[in-house]
Amino acid sequence: MDTLQLALVFLSIVALHICIADETNQDYTWHIKKIPHIVSSDIVTLKNPSYEAELQLELNGTCGIECQRTLPPPSLADLEEYLSYETVFDNGTRTMTRVNVQGWHPETEMEGNKPKHSVRRKRQIYGTDSRFSISDKQFMTNYPFSTAVKLSTGCSGILISPKHALTAAHCIHDGKDYIKNGKKLRVGLLKVRSKRGGKRRKGSKRAKEDESEDADPPKKDRKQKRKSIQKRSAAAEELTNNLSGKERGSGAGKPSFQWTRVKAIQIPKGWYRDVSHNMSLDYDYAVLELKRPHKKKYMELGISPEADKMPGSRVHFSGFDEDRPGQLVYRFCRVSEESTDLFYQYCDAEPGSSGSGIYIRLKEPNKKKWRRKIIAIYSGHQWVDVNNQQQDYNVAVRITPLKYAQICYWIHGNHASCKQG
Ligand SMILES: *[C@@H]1O[C@H](CO)[C@@H](O)[C@H](O)[C@H]1NC(C)=O
Ligand SMILES: *[C@@H]1O[C@H](CO)[C@@H](O)[C@H](O)[C@H]1NC(C)=O
Ligand SMILES: *[C@@H]1O[C@H](CO)[C@@H](O)[C@H](O)[C@H]1NC(C)=O
Ligand SMILES: *[C@@H]1O[C@H](CO)[C@@H](O)[C@H](O)[C@H]1NC(C)=O
Repeated sequence: MDTLQLALVFLSIVALHICIADETNQDYTWHIKKIPHIVSSDIVTLKNPSYEAELQLELNGTCGIECQRTLPPPSLADLEEYLSYETVFDNGTRTMTRVNVQGWHPETEMEGNKPKHSVRRKRQIYGTDSRFSISDKQFMTNYPFSTAVKLSTGCSGILISPKHALTAAHCIHDGKDYIKNGKKLRVGLLKVRSKRGGKRRKGSKRAKEDESEDADPPKKDRKQKRKSIQKRSAAAEELTNNLSGKERGSGAGKPSFQWTRVKAIQIPKGWYRDVSHNMSLDYDYAVLELKRPHKKKYMELGISPEADKMPGSRVHFSGFDEDRPGQLVYRFCRVSEESTDLFYQYCDAEPGSSGSGIYIRLKEPNKKKWRRKIIAIYSGHQWVDVNNQQQDYNVAVRITPLKYAQICYWIHGNHASCKQG
């Protein structure tokens, strides 16, 4: 039995197992809530970023769940400060938008803060590695796996609208400055390509546009352009190494990345606030607006329920772990501890998967159908300050109602489309 078959058997066992577990339980439903309003009050232009920071996939001395417990709960003014955000356009222009929050009362709404799950384990990869490499191109390029994207800087992300991807803030900004190469940030979507490069459906016009989108730098004559495309897809093919025996050697039909430029980046101010000089993970997320819409199915956002309201307290995510180049790596695991803003979880993950969208599947209200939604962003394996000692955890940033309101506002540009979620 080759690895692919093995993986498929595993997947079906897992699926079966999850179904049984789900059926025996009562209320795994998305509870649709009223969303507070985020209203922009003031926009100021800042000086262009210098793009000098180094990408750090593992952060040290961050404020995790333990550190949060020592802090007073944020006031409404604090929250408005953290939810204010920076926008950087591809032409280098940078703005700061201050926001007001309407319809939100921190005293009554911030209740998830009490410790609940006290089981705790450090985990990166220990013992058996329980990650699945999705190497079958059908799986890889179909929902939900197809929503995973790779950033040109090395992280992962997830498609959340026809034009937006969600990722971790630390993948593009170190808390002080944007990272090198952030200026030419690109998002890679997995596509199955024919030998000639470019799966052309009816509109070959779009395919052409995509090709020019691929060329780097932008202005080149046609011949050079083609060359750079070939180089790029050769590199991508190398990345997509060791598929199942059947596909190997045929060359055509392998999934490879199609790179799209980023038009604007939005990062919450909460990411670069100081928690007494230590970085706070609560706001480790960013939204990337693509220059051109993609045509794939994206995944909706949802407000993160508490871990015990999720089937098996389990979360799922797929990303591009560095130790498995070019492979899409899927895993699922239990949440072991939660605060209002963070999850600690047991998932096996390596750097590169930072920024992946963490999703769960719950029932739609009043329907039999189940739907997946993104409820958190995988921040990564991080060193958290616990009583002045560094301990490592796999940390994820939860989507709270306020973060939902903010991200939804970024996607739609108004809050009329973000009344419920
Ligand atoms: C973070 O701290 C841990 C423990 O002190 C150390 O092992 C690790 O190398 C540090 N990582 C970085 C990037 O500084
Ligand atoms: C910040 O981190 C340092 C060590 O990296 C630690 O000594 C200090 O107590 C931390 N501060 C807070 C507020 O957690
Ligand atoms: C950069 O792009 C943004 C958004 O498209 C625009 O508002 C701004 O005026 C541009 N800045 C410059 C200097 O061209
Ligand atoms: C891919 O497979 C080939 C032959 O089976 C092997 O030599 C090579 O090391 C593999 N590459 C990786 C990255 O696993």
